Amino acid sequence: MKISTTTQVVALLASVLTVDAFWRMPCRYRSGMARIDPLMNPGTLGTHEHAIHGSSAFSETSTTADLLTGDCTSCQVSQDKSAYWTPSLYFQNAATGEFQIVEQVGGMLAYYLLYPNSGNDSLSAFPSGFQMISGSTNRRNFTAGPVPDPPKSDWTAAESTQDALAQKALGFNCLNYAVAAEGSLYRHFLPDKAYLDANCLDGIRLELMFPSCWNGVDVDSANHKDHVAFPNLVMTGTCPDTHPVRLVSLFYETIFNTNAFAGVDGQFVLSNGDPTGYGYHGDFIMGWEESFLQEAVDTCTNASGEIADCSLFTIQDGSNCNISMPSALANENYIGPMATLPGSVAIQSGPNSATDGATASATSGAVTTGSAVVPTLSHSAGSTIASTDTFLPGGVFKGQASSSFDPSSSSTIPTSSSISSSSSIPTSSSPSSSAPVTTIAPVYSPAASATEDFVATSYSTNGLEVLEVLWVEETVTVTLSAVETSTPYVRRSDRKRAAARHLHRHQHDAAHGH
Ligand SMILES: *[C@@H]1O[C@H](CO)[C@@H](O)[C@H](O)[C@H]1NC(C)=O
Ligand SMILES: *[C@@H]1O[C@H](CO)[C@@H](O)[C@H](O)[C@H]1NC(C)=O
Ligand SMILES: *[C@@H]1O[C@H](CO)[C@@H](O)[C@H](O)[C@H]1NC(C)=O
Ligand SMILES: *[C@@H]1O[C@H](CO)[C@@H](O)[C@H](O)[C@H]1NC(C)=O
Repeated sequence: MKISTTTQVVALLASVLTVDAFWRMPCRYRSGMARIDPLMNPGTLGTHEHAIHGSSAFSETSTTADLLTGDCTSCQVSQDKSAYWTPSLYFQNAATGEFQIVEQVGGMLAYYLLYPNSGNDSLSAFPSGFQMISGSTNRRNFTAGPVPDPPKSDWTAAESTQDALAQKALGFNCLNYAVAAEGSLYRHFLPDKAYLDANCLDGIRLELMFPSCWNGVDVDSANHKDHVAFPNLVMTGTCPDTHPVRLVSLFYETIFNTNAFAGVDGQFVLSNGDPTGYGYHGDFIMGWEESFLQEAVDTCTNASGEIADCSLFTIQDGSNCNISMPSALANENYIGPMATLPGSVAIQSGPNSATDGATASATSGAVTTGSAVVPTLSHSAGSTIASTDTFLPGGVFKGQASSSFDPSSSSTIPTSSSISSSSSIPTSSSPSSSAPVTTIAPVYSPAASATEDFVATSYSTNGLEVLEVLWVEETVTVTLSAVETSTPYVRRSDRKRAAARHLHRHQHDAAHGH
C-alpha cells in the first residue's frame, strides 16, 4: 500500500489485537466410565454415569493431593494429573425402551485458554486444592434470553446474570464435516433425534465453558460454584468485582457419535436423565503442581496452542491409564442395552427443574420418547476457512491468512494452503469496553489492507481431518487523508461476526468487480 506524505496511517482494530494464547490438552483416552463423583457424591457412589479423564487416582474421595499421587494420567501431558469428568450420552430405543451407550469419539479436549482481564495481562493458575463445577444437572429449561443468542455486545443485564451466563456456557455443536462448522457455544441444548439424524451426520460435540473469575480466597464452595464466576461474555469480558482474579480458562469438548443410531426410533438422553441438554455439566479438580501450572500459564504462550510447543510439558500418549473401579461398580452394566440408565436414573424432561434422586424402575417400561421440548435451531456457520488440505491429526495452528483488499482477487476467503505460521503476531493490547470517540467514518476500500489471523485447531476423527475455528482476529490498516481519525471498536466477542461480515464483503466486492 502506498502511503503519501500527506496521509496518516491509522491502525484500525476492527477486532482486538490481543493475542489470546492457549494450549489444548488432548485426553484421547478415558481413564474410566463410572458412577463416581467426588464433588457431588463424595465418599459414595455417584448418582449418574460419567466419562472420566485424567489422573488414575480419581476416586469417590479424591482431592488435588490424591490426584497428584496417581501413577499416570490419560491426558497427553504427564504433569497434568487433573480430573475432568462429564455425563456420558445414551440412546433410548423407542421400541424396547432400552438404553445403549453412545460412542464417545476421540476422548476429550480440555482447552486452557489464556484470556486476561482488561488492563492486566497476568493470569493465575488454579490454586492447589481448587475444584469447580460448570452447569447444573437439574436444569431443564433456558431462561437466558432469545434463541439463538443475540450478538454479545447487545446482551442486556438480564441476559448477563451469572445464571444466564452459566446457561450460555453449554454448547451442542452439530457436526457435519461437509458443511461449514458451527461456532462454539452456538446452541445451548441437545437437538432432538430428528434434527440430529437429518443434520448432524458426524455426531454432536458437547462443549462446556468454565467460569474463569475467582474470588481469590476459596478453592471450593458449598455448591462448588460460588467461589468462581463467569466474565460478562462467558469466555471473555470483564470479571465481576466479587471475583476479580482471572484464572486460566477451561473449555471442554467431547464428541459423541449420535449418527450411529440414525433411522432408529428413539431419543438421546444424558446419563443424568436429561434429554434436553440444559442439564449438561462438567467437573474439574486441579491436579497440577500449582507452581508448575503457573509457570505454564506464564510461558506456554505460543499461539499454535500445541502442547508440543511448550518446552515445560512432557508429552505422552495417555493410553492404558485407568482408575480403580469401586467394587460396587465392578459388575455394573453401563454399555447396554439395559432397562434403565446406570444408577436407575429417571428421565426428566422439564421444563421444571429435575428432582434429585428420581429413579426409574426397570419394570415400569415407560418409554418417554419425544417428551423433551427443545427449539429447532438450524445450522449457522461460524467463521470458516475453506479446508482443502489435510493437517496433522491433533495439530493446532495459528495461521495468518493475509488478504490485502485486492478487488481483483476472488479468493479472499483464506484457504488452508494460504495458512502459514505467522511471524507478525500482533502485540497484546487488552480489550476495553469503551469505544473511542468517532469523529469521522473510516473509508475502507481500496486504501486499506487487512490481515486475518485465524486461530483454529484441527483434529482427526473418523478418518477425517476437521478444522475448527476458535476465533478470528482481524487487523485493518486504513490510509486516511484526514488528520482526525476514528477507531471503531468491535468487541472481541463479535470477532466471528465481524469476520463473517468482512469475508462476505470481500466476496461481494469481488463479485461486483470493484
Ligand atoms: C492482575 O491479575 C492477576 C490475576 O488475576 C492478579 O493476581 C493480580 O493481583 C492483578 N494485578 C493487579 C495490579 O490488579
Ligand atoms: C511456536 O512454535 C512453533 C512450532 O510450532 C515454532 O516454530 C515457533 O518458533 C514458536 N514460537 C515461539 C515464539 O516460540
Ligand atoms: C484400561 O481400561 C480399558 C477399557 O476398559 C482396557 O481395555 C485396558 O486394558 C485397561 N488397561 C489397564 C492397564 O488396565
Ligand atoms: C426453569 O428452570 C429453573 C432452574 O432449574 C427453575 O427454577 C424454573 O422453575 C424453571 N421454569 C419453569 C417454567 O419450569
